[in-house]
Amino acid sequence: MAPSSEYDLPLRPRRLRRTKNIRRMARETRLATDHLIAPLFVMDGENDREEVSSMPDTYRHTIDRLVDKAETLDALGIPAVALFPALPDALKTPDAAHALEPDHLYPNAIRALKKAVPELMIITDTALDPYNSDGHDGIVRDGEIQNDATIDVMREMAVLHAEAGADIVAPSDMMDGRVGLIREALDDAGHTDTAILSYTAKYSSSYYGPFRDALDSAPEDKAATPDKDIPDTKDTYQMDPANGEEAVRELMLDLDEGADMVMVKPALPYLDVIHRVQQHSDVPVAAYNVSGEYAMITAAAQNGWLDRRKCAMEALTGIRRAGADLILTYFAEDAARWLAE
Ligand code: PBG
Repeated sequence: MAPSSEYDLPLRPRRLRRTKNIRRMARETRLATDHLIAPLFVMDGENDREEVSSMPDTYRHTIDRLVDKAETLDALGIPAVALFPALPDALKTPDAAHALEPDHLYPNAIRALKKAVPELMIITDTALDPYNSDGHDGIVRDGEIQNDATIDVMREMAVLHAEAGADIVAPSDMMDGRVGLIREALDDAGHTDTAILSYTAKYSSSYYGPFRDALDSAPEDKAATPDKDIPDTKDTYQMDPANGEEAVRELMLDLDEGADMVMVKPALPYLDVIHRVQQHSDVPVAAYNVSGEYAMITAAAQNGWLDRRKCAMEALTGIRRAGADLILTYFAEDAARWLAE
């Protein structure tokens, strides 16, 4: 009887899948700890942490605990963290004024991190939503998001963050023109070495749900107060999930305005957008594997329906394959440990 390999098939792609080592040799995409950025949530208090209910094993940390966490991440080789503040409602106002207090939780956290782990890059969130009682990234007046007035606050925020020790400021708001105006404000204040990571193509996504739980920042909830005229979505500034070309247009503007790095967010439902942006970008491209993407895998794994580690690593590899140089992900610490095994 003829062996099964007797068909005349000159092209057999399976040759390169035959053994572990030949698969390593043929592998196109690398995922390394170098590519990972860990988002971190900071809250007021001492020696405490609170688990985000919709993000198992992800915590809001008080500054002292945040420093411990940052030391761990640094020791694992993670190059950067992206920091987000969780503030009590009492500190939130329609003008987000607390954001500019020189001595509040957020700059204090930046200073503490810089002092304890100076090598770890600190990426700060330049947006009003953690401070805004209306739950928006922009200031709301007469039911409308105020583009230019919002940028005025963000410019001061960026300078405050840079003064506190931020290496990279990351406007996550999607107001028009903010990259160039923040660049100018930083330069005028002497912070010419502070980089800008722009949230270039940030979609109006329902996958941010768990993050809004973490910060209690959902506009939907704030808009529920009947006597207030507050938009209940971010659709007038975040991008329409149906659009891809528009991401390239946003990219062109951000590059023109001096963005040092650009970002696509979320990641998994937007792999084509990551690819497009990477093809047109001459600066590093980041992708944000957002809270809802983390929650989906983690919740399914808790039910025994998915293998958390394998699915997380497959997702991160897919995001790299699509074209992301850097990935913000709540799996960063776990992934760094898995990569070190
Ligand atoms: C807001 C901001 C959001 C996220 C990061 N910055 C939420 C939003 O736009 O409502 C989401 C991150 C995540 O879901 O992990 N400036």
